[in-house]
Formats: sequence, C-alpha cells, structure tokens
Amino acid sequence: MTAARRGARPKPWASRTARAILARQHEGFGMDGNTGGTALTQKHRELIEAARAATAQAYARYSGFRVGAALLSEQGNVYTGCNVENVSYPVGVCAERNAIGAAVRAEGPGLRVAAVAVVAFNRRDEPSACSPCGECRQAIREFSGSAEVIYMGREGDMTVRTIAELLPDAFGSG
Ligand code: THU
Repeated sequence: MTAARRGARPKPWASRTARAILARQHEGFGMDGNTGGTALTQKHRELIEAARAATAQAYARYSGFRVGAALLSEQGNVYTGCNVENVSYPVGVCAERNAIGAAVRAEGPGLRVAAVAVVAFNRRDEPSACSPCGECRQAIREFSGSAEVIYMGREGDMTVRTIAELLPDAFGSG
C-alpha cells in the first residue's frame, strides 16, 4: 500500500482521545469506527458487542491482554470465547479458537462460520489492535472460505476482511 493510500484512510480510533473515551466506556466498542471502506452492519455491531463482553472472562494473567471473540454460525447462532493463558506459555489458547470450540460443541462437525469479531484490551484497559493470529486464521479457515472477520486494525480502525483475504492460498483450501 502506498503512503498516499494509507494517508487517505480516516483513522478515528487512532487518536489517544478516542482510545481514552473507549477505554472508559467499553460499551459500544468501535461502533462508529472506520472500517476501511466496509460499513459496519447491525450484525457486525452485535458481534463486536458480544466479543467485548467476552473479554470480561479472559484469563490473561501473564500478558494482561484480554481478548474476546464472537462467532456467528451460518445457522445464525453466536458463540463466544476468550483467551485462556497458562504458566507454561505455549499452552495458552486464543479467544478465537475457544469460540470455535464452543461452536463445534454446540453445532457439531457440520459447523460453518459466517463471521467472527475480535475485541482486545491491553493491561491499561485500553482497546487494542488485534488482528487474528496465524493459527486462528487457519482455524477459522477450517470452517469457512469466506467468513468475515472483524477486528481493530493496527491504526485503530475497525476492519472487516474475509478469511480468504487474511489467509490467501490457504493449505488444503482446494
Ligand atoms: N490472543 C488471542 O486471544 N487472539 C489473537 O488472535 C492474538 C492473541 C491472545 C493470546 C495471549 O493470551 C494474548 O492474546 C497475548 O498474546
């Protein structure tokens, strides 16, 4: 991406003030944020809110980085997950994969994922960028080649991408 194109994107959540307001409110996380050209639908807003609520359950004792994920299945159900860390660090599990576990438990092996929203707060309780990690991208891809993924990008903007955009040329995607 060129500097000019980067500069063309409004970044309302990049400002300290916006972050401070969100950190105080927590409610309505990112609702009016710029999404890099994709408007947030009501479905996105509900998923973002469910993901935000799930951050309250996070077991983030080691990183202090609380993550919540909300998964919308193609059947229309919402399942949430939070990160669960461990003193043996690699044992910890991300919020997205815990949401997938809950969804498979409920709907079984036929699960198809329509969308996943991810919300994170850092140890200062500030809303933080959290694009899904590589393992979670692969995990989402297992259940959809076209699911939408909604998260706060590096510049503080709410971002909507498809899993195919986040994990192009995925292993086993046929
Ligand atoms: N984390 C998630 O839950 N999802 C991601 O996509 C990235 C990272 C968690 C893992 C760990 O508990 C904490 O965030 C810091 O890396």
